Amino acid sequence: MPLLEDQDPSLSLYADMMQQVPRTAKELFIEVGKPYRKKFFLFFLLGGIGSFFWMTTPYVVAKIIDALTETPSITNIVVWLLVLFVFLRFAEETLWRAAEYVARSFVPELVEDVRMSLFRSTLAKSHYYFVNSSSGQLGHWINQASATTKNFISTVFWNMWGMAFKLVVAAGFLFTVHWALALLFIVWLILLFVFTVKRGRTFSELIADWGEEKSKGAGQVVDAMSNHLAVRSFTTKSYEEKLLAAQQRNIVRSRKISWRHNLITNAAKGQSANVAGLLGLVFAVWLYAEGQITIGELVLFIAYFDAASVGLWKLSWAINELYMDYGMLNNALEGLHGADERQASLQNASSQSEVASDRSVTVVLNNVGFAYPDQPESKILSSFDLKIEPKQKVGVVGGSGAGKSTLVALLLAFYDATEGEILVNGQTLQEQDPSFMRSLASYVPQETNLFNRTIKENVLYAKLDATNAQITRALELAEASDFVAALPKGIDTLIGERGVKLSGGQRQRIAIARAILRDAPLLILDEATSALDSVSEQAIQKALHTLMQDRTAVVVAHRLSTLKHLDKIIVMDQGRVVECGNHNELLVLDGNYADLWKRQKDGFLAA
Ligand SMILES: Nc1ncnc2c1ncn2[C@@H]1O[C@H](COP(=O)(O)OP(=O)(O)OP(=O)(O)O)[C@@H](O)[C@H]1O
Ligand SMILES: [Mg+2]
Repeated sequence: MPLLEDQDPSLSLYADMMQQVPRTAKELFIEVGKPYRKKFFLFFLLGGIGSFFWMTTPYVVAKIIDALTETPSITNIVVWLLVLFVFLRFAEETLWRAAEYVARSFVPELVEDVRMSLFRSTLAKSHYYFVNSSSGQLGHWINQASATTKNFISTVFWNMWGMAFKLVVAAGFLFTVHWALALLFIVWLILLFVFTVKRGRTFSELIADWGEEKSKGAGQVVDAMSNHLAVRSFTTKSYEEKLLAAQQRNIVRSRKISWRHNLITNAAKGQSANVAGLLGLVFAVWLYAEGQITIGELVLFIAYFDAASVGLWKLSWAINELYMDYGMLNNALEGLHGADERQASLQNASSQSEVASDRSVTVVLNNVGFAYPDQPESKILSSFDLKIEPKQKVGVVGGSGAGKSTLVALLLAFYDATEGEILVNGQTLQEQDPSFMRSLASYVPQETNLFNRTIKENVLYAKLDATNAQITRALELAEASDFVAALPKGIDTLIGERGVKLSGGQRQRIAIARAILRDAPLLILDEATSALDSVSEQAIQKALHTLMQDRTAVVVAHRLSTLKHLDKIIVMDQGRVVECGNHNELLVLDGNYADLWKRQKDGFLAA
């Protein structure tokens, strides 16, 4: 019973898409635009011809005026010119609507491609990247990138292409009036273009700053929403509002800086249009007075120059818009940039959810040392040696912060050891695709990781093709079937974000059911039963022990009674193994473990 129906192969748009976040907007467009090259070309062709037709009409009008000045009656030529005029206008409209049809047929897909490829390349990032990111910002950037791509394309298609084309045609027609007029126009065009591009670069950077501030704001909003319980219980609503208001001031400030920059650009451009227009007009009137151009050509000049001034103005606005989108997009891409997980993991993404067929797992840690990347001088694990034989069950104990979860993170290849090596079935973990280790393991983390989906979907996550019977069995073994059955919609109940609608212990049982369903040869439990009452825990322990029987297991627990029957227990302190042996051996040793055991047994912590 797969979670998703097999996709229509024609929709596998994303199959060959980028695996890494492109560094710049340009890289993104090249990558995402590739499959639609022909459609882009068709759009530009249709729109280009349409605009050419449109720009030809003043020329036809000038010819009508000239014909009428020569013979003031409706001659054949005038009729034909009128027919041509009507044809050009109708053709222009039809061609642009055809271009629109082409654009609408692929732009929505392209915009979704951007979202999908960024979603995919972001999920491929390292664990460390996510640890250091704000999910609000990540979501904001992905949405922003697809929204600005849409704006960018709209601007190019509807505000730039036709206009740019018209300007070039206008320059061409001006040559038919007088070369000097055309030259004046071209010089102005080039100057304005250079000026717009030069100012645009800075504008784009200022917009990226604005984008950065906006993303921080978005991150803050999501952070406050997801911690609404803390906001409520500490009655800090107005404090959160103040925090956001402070960020909003930064957003407004950075927007105003970019806006002022743009205002200066626009003012300069607007006045230059007046100057150029005036010069052109004076020059054209002089040419007419000198008898160098006809009255029709004078009208033609005025029509083209006027259309061109308006066009150029609109075009420079459009270029500004482009720089704005470009800045926004670059900000999003920069934010989404970060270290990827080892390359190899990305190639066989589809096999990552599968469990390895190899049922026997041996793990050896040789002199392993580890420090988190942002604190390289603070060693969390040092000179760590451990050997886990096939089907051996190893318990891990130690005070809070001793490095137990860090050890688990290394075993699951969330991080690479910074010293020494970890061998899994003889393979050096650091050299393997991370999916290699994950395909061998069922993992129940210290903090349960549940989706805002139904119970069934959450359990199914461990084995996407599991049958209903397998899911029911896993829930039974995890002592979850009773409470699930009591829920209004049973297994189809939505459990809220991170499973908030369930109790802590219920969440853990769902996580355990998931691990049971996964049925991998290595079981890694990090405080998997810490939130359960002793009765439920005992029942689950029984199920877990049965589950562990024919597999290798690493069990982290504070309650020593959970570990008592395991083959080997290691006691960790400040990232080192300080004691190692089975329960009885450690009691005889009379060290940390024996001490802890006595305290828990005496009821200091109920065992
Ligand atoms: N992502 C991280 N970046 C930097 N330091 C971290 C990170 N995760 C954990 N640490 C630090 O590593 C040390 C060991 O943490 P770890 O989570 O492994 O402890 P633990 O033994 O599992 O503790 P507990 O019993 O409380 O779960 C702690 O001092 C912690 O502050
Ligand atoms: Mg821990």
